[in-house]
Amino acid sequence: MNEPAAQPAAPYGDFQLEIYLAGLGGTVPTLPVSFAELESRAAQALPPSVLSYVAGGAGDEHTQRANVAAFRQWGLMPRMLVGASRRDLSVDLFGLRLPSPVFLAPIGVIGLCAQDGHGDLATAEAAARMRVPMVASTLSADPMEEVAPRLGETPGFFQLYTPTDRELAESLVHRAERAGFTAIVVTLDTWITGWRPRDLATSNFPQLRGMCLANYTSDPVFRSRLAQTPEENPMAAVAHWAGVFGNPLTWDDLPWLRSLTRLPLILKGICHPDDARRAIAAGADAVYVSNHGGRQANGGLPALDCLPGVVEAAAGRPVLFDSGVRSGADIIKALALGATAVGIGRPYAYGLALGGARGIEHVLRTLLAEADLIMAVDGYPALADLTKDALRRVTAV
Ligand SMILES: Cc1cc2nc3c(=O)[nH]c(=O)nc-3n(C[C@H](O)[C@H](O)[C@H](O)COP(=O)(O)O)c2cc1C
Repeated sequence: MNEPAAQPAAPYGDFQLEIYLAGLGGTVPTLPVSFAELESRAAQALPPSVLSYVAGGAGDEHTQRANVAAFRQWGLMPRMLVGASRRDLSVDLFGLRLPSPVFLAPIGVIGLCAQDGHGDLATAEAAARMRVPMVASTLSADPMEEVAPRLGETPGFFQLYTPTDRELAESLVHRAERAGFTAIVVTLDTWITGWRPRDLATSNFPQLRGMCLANYTSDPVFRSRLAQTPEENPMAAVAHWAGVFGNPLTWDDLPWLRSLTRLPLILKGICHPDDARRAIAAGADAVYVSNHGGRQANGGLPALDCLPGVVEAAAGRPVLFDSGVRSGADIIKALALGATAVGIGRPYAYGLALGGARGIEHVLRTLLAEADLIMAVDGYPALADLTKDALRRVTAV
């Protein structure tokens, strides 16, 4: 149920003390503290079709491995005698003061990662408890009006997959506004699905089986397009969804998208500096560097390598980032390369699979504890201290 948004216990690094102290009483963590174990245990816990959809990527999955490997090409320079006994990880985003610079990236089948099939609600609850914003996908097992209240005081951003039916797009955005979401994230890289061999090998596409379409089937415009209600004829609703889902947007569509809302508009999937400049010139409030975790095109360019160029082009506008973040160290490196806020993707899906909302919280606490302790050990007390000067290029090992 709705719980008040509690301020997470700060400093985040104290989580390690909590773990060690519990150990004195014979209690060891039941949930993994490393990504490797998180991934392998989630692989045992998730049904095969969900695992395939979540863990899989485009082509031979080179890009999703490259996303992760790119972080190893950077090292953080330790600075001594700084006395960073307290760290400030807080950040301003669209006028919101957030205790940490991380957010939960949109995951369209997050509903299915929870044992009860309501992962969107569990994600919102974890977001509320950690004061970490959730980006709620259009592809949701529960309608956005039921997700948003679970966020309590914590901001939620609505991620729009722009349908070809403009009235439906408008309806989704206006519903998000009414539900209390505080920004709109338009994902640009998924108007068509990338080539995903893992899912292709088992003909596995959850939405075509009617899953995670609640935002559509609850939408008055979507419903008005159907001869029978989605309850009477679910397959006709799915067929209609498949026909309107992906809109191959062009720059000419941006003024229309911008006109839909006064909320901050964030464009997700921007990797080229020229696209970042053009997006901002067209009225985007922020850009979001991402290659969809290597799920869309197996082009081989790690998202992290695109970040500095986009940050420069964004000329002071917020730059969100995701793709390949697996540790607190990764968060620190993305921030030092100029990200305003860093998105967590697959790791929280795995946390959810293992422990529900508490599992997501656990994953966020481990990531933030590690990030906080790196700032302590390496002498970077505030996010403002994490600049590109703090990083050195290293030969990946
Ligand atoms: C199973 C799955 C579903 C996703 N669904 C969406 C979605 O609905 N909308 C969206 O913009 N991005 C979606 N993404 C992409 C994430 O927002 C994010 O870009 C990606 O997970 C980052 O890569 P990483 O998880 O490897 O770090 C999805 C990612 C995964 C793994």
